[in-house]
This record gives sequence, C-alpha cells and structure tokens, in this order.
Amino acid sequence: MNPVLEVRGVSKRFGGLAALSEVSFEVARGELLALVGPNGAGKSTLFNTIAGVAPPTAGRILLEGTDVTGKSSHALARLGVARTFQLVTLFRELTVLENVVQGLHRHTRLAVLDGLLGLPRYREDTRRLAERAEGVLALLGIAAHRHERADALPLGIAKLLTVAIALATEPRLLLLDEPAAGLSHDEATRMMDLVAGEVRKRCTVVLVEHNMRIVGNYCDRAVVLQFGRKIYDGAAAGLVHDPAVVDAYLGVAEMDG
Ligand SMILES: Nc1ncnc2c1ncn2[C@@H]1O[C@H](COP(=O)(O)OP(=O)(O)OP(=O)(O)O)[C@@H](O)[C@H]1O
Ligand SMILES: [Mg+2]
Repeated sequence: MNPVLEVRGVSKRFGGLAALSEVSFEVARGELLALVGPNGAGKSTLFNTIAGVAPPTAGRILLEGTDVTGKSSHALARLGVARTFQLVTLFRELTVLENVVQGLHRHTRLAVLDGLLGLPRYREDTRRLAERAEGVLALLGIAAHRHERADALPLGIAKLLTVAIALATEPRLLLLDEPAAGLSHDEATRMMDLVAGEVRKRCTVVLVEHNMRIVGNYCDRAVVLQFGRKIYDGAAAGLVHDPAVVDAYLGVAEMDG
C-alpha cells in the first residue's frame, strides 16, 4: 500500500533563505508523526508546501502515490488534506457550531449566492452539514460550547474547535501546527488524548510539537528539522537520546518539559 504522504527531496527558498533543503520522509496510513525542530527550522513552511499554500521550489509531494506537487490549497483540501494553523484562526463573531458549519460550506463549495437567495437546496444542505458539525463537536467533547461565540472561548477550547473544523471535512491527512502550544498542562493533555485517540482513528496525523515529553508519550515516529534539513527520522521515544537532536535543542528548556 502506498504511504499516505511522501515528501521527496523538497526544498523551499524565500529569496536567499533556504527554509527547506532536500527534505524526504514518508507517513504511513494511520501513523501519528511528530514534526519537531527549533524555531525557524521550517516546520510550518513544510506544512505550507504539503497543503498547497506555498509550493516547493524543488522536490515532489505525493498523496497516496499521486503526485500533487503544485496543486492549489483548495485542490488539496478536496483531495483530503486538512490542516490547522499555528495561530488560532476562527470567525470570532460566529458561534462554535457556526464555525464548523462555515468550514464545511467552504469545503463543499456551496454557492454563496444560493445562501443569499435562501434556496431550498441551501437550507437542506445546511441542515445536513449542521448534523455533521454536531457530530464532530461531540466527538471532541466540546458540544456543550456549541452556541458560544468563538472569541469568548478559552484557548484550549478554541484550539479543539480548529481541530474540529479540520476533522469535519473527513480528511485522510491532517496537519496540526502546534495543537498543544500555549495550553496549560491539563488542556494539552486533553488535546493530545483526543488527537491520539478519536482523531487518529479517523485519519493519518502529522503534528508539530516542541515538547519532547508530549512527542515521546503520544507519537509513533518523529522527523526532526534543523535549519531546513532533516536531522532525525525514527522512533519518537528515541528522540531525547539522539546526539544531533540534543545538540539542536541545547539550551532549550522544553527538552525537559
Ligand atoms: N513567507 C515567508 N517569506 C520569507 N521567509 C519566510 C516565510 N515563511 C517562513 N520564512 C522563513 O523560513 C524559515 C522557516 O520558518 P518556519 O515558519 O517554517 O519555521 P518553524 O519551524 O515553523 O518555526 P516556529 O517553531 O517558530 O513556528 C524562517 O527563517 C522564516 O523566517
Ligand atoms: Mg511554525
């Protein structure tokens, strides 16, 4: 069976800066892979190349064996690549439920005009999408917040909501950029229990995480980047014993976190 994701010799330049240099790795179906590396290592850039936001300067991206290099973010979303961003991106004035439904509307490309005209087809689809959205909120344990405005949510719930919005599209590959960052210990545990439980049952997950304890506890495998190059690809539990990784993180407090 083809890997869900193959990154083959991917490089990304921003002017004179090599943000990624010949990065290659694969992600098998059902795997939970951590993407690790110091600030500026190229993790978010790698997500952007996979999700079609910023196509690679060189190299190929394959999704279940199909070359998707250079496809738009919208095309990739339709092919089953969903992602969350490092900073929470929500419609602040919409409720939790409306945010998920809105994301589904975007995903299914329902015509805005249909909505404005109040056509029956739009109303029917909205009801169906609302049911799907309710299901995902229940799955992530945030259904009780469904009618709260997004800008009133604690960060832990807001971040779960961004995962819900992505998961509602029923992706085959989910990219989570620092889902636990900024959360309290309890909120981070709740997030990671869900990601490693209900979320990974439904799709293959790649997540960016700085905290080695979280990576070791929850992830199968880790790929570590430093200055845009891959310096480690192996068992998540082996990270803290790898000299190159320890070097890359020397002096970074989260190594012990
Ligand atoms: N659009 C851009 N234009 C120019 N340089 C960029 C752009 N995006 C990222 N970079 C640079 O590419 C490098 C990698 O950035 P990236 O955001 O991918 O790092 P990161 O590993 O996600 O870091 P962090 O842990 O801080 O989120 C950095 O030097 C950054 O300044
Ligand atoms: Mg980043």
